[in-house]
Amino acid sequence: MSNTPTVLDRTENKELTRGRRAKRVWFAILACVAVLALVASATFAVNFYLNLQEQQRLLNGQADSLAALQQTLNEQSEQIASQQEQLDAQESKLAEQESKIAEQESVIQQQQDTINKQKDTIKNQESTIDSLRPTEVVKGVATYPDIDVTRLKGKKLVALTFDDGPSTYTSKLLDALKKRGAKATFFVVGSRANSYASLIKRMEAEGHVVGNHSQNHKNLNYLSAAGVAAEMGDSAERIKSIIGHYPYIMRCPGGNYNQTVKNYAKAANMPIIQWSVDTADWKYRSKASVLSYAKRGIKDGSIVLMHDLYSTTVDAAIELIDYLQDQGYTLVTVPELLAAKCGTVEMGKVYFHG
Ligand code: NI
Repeated sequence: MSNTPTVLDRTENKELTRGRRAKRVWFAILACVAVLALVASATFAVNFYLNLQEQQRLLNGQADSLAALQQTLNEQSEQIASQQEQLDAQESKLAEQESKIAEQESVIQQQQDTINKQKDTIKNQESTIDSLRPTEVVKGVATYPDIDVTRLKGKKLVALTFDDGPSTYTSKLLDALKKRGAKATFFVVGSRANSYASLIKRMEAEGHVVGNHSQNHKNLNYLSAAGVAAEMGDSAERIKSIIGHYPYIMRCPGGNYNQTVKNYAKAANMPIIQWSVDTADWKYRSKASVLSYAKRGIKDGSIVLMHDLYSTTVDAAIELIDYLQDQGYTLVTVPELLAAKCGTVEMGKVYFHG
């Protein structure tokens, strides 16, 4: 046996070597691929992990924001709830107050109803009393005077009239009239006459005219013929007891008259005296206002309406008399004015001016 390798042996060796190399190469390649795969997997895993973490962080952030939002929402809903409570409380208070007001209104309504019923009762009683009066009785039939107006012809005349008095201010007015030689007309109320008898006497004595303004200042339009006769007649009697004769002119309370009143005036032999200038003195109670109304309205023949119940009116009247006399007016009584401007005076007729 020889140790020398044969050709076959060498060839075998070569093939063996080539085979080992190829194996090694494949092994190397496989190893490389494995390493590459590992590296790629690792890289992928790391990236995946980092991504996951990033997303987790983002999610955490969003969760925080959501939590904060939720907190804000909770707070707002608490506020809304508390405001709602306040509103509910206010609404219930309002409801309470409304119900109280409703209660009071109903009480007022009941009282109003009672008052209305009482008014109705009074009206009924008045009309019963009125219907029980004897009819066709005219008390206080006046004698209308003849007035010599020679001295007044062609003059500018004005008649100041004072209603509803006398009062505590009337004597001041009488003093001023006397001092200025001016005359006026006083439509007095019978129910006041006894308390101011001396002033009424003084009016007559100083050349003024006392007219009849009814006993109780009732609206004559609501009375029957007998009622008008009683209301005016009582006052006429009262005045006669003070000045010695019946008043011969009348003015209706509130200026209210109807055919019944005119019939009475005719039967009682009196004209009804209204006015052409209203000073609205009872309304404004202002001297300046009375003067303004009077100066604007007065012209030759005017009958001026005032009330000697107010100190403002008396003060205004005194200044007005000075003003009118400066303007050339003569201040006369209503009968003088009618006689001078109208001539014959008709009984039962209504006069607004001369
Ligand atoms: Ni009056």
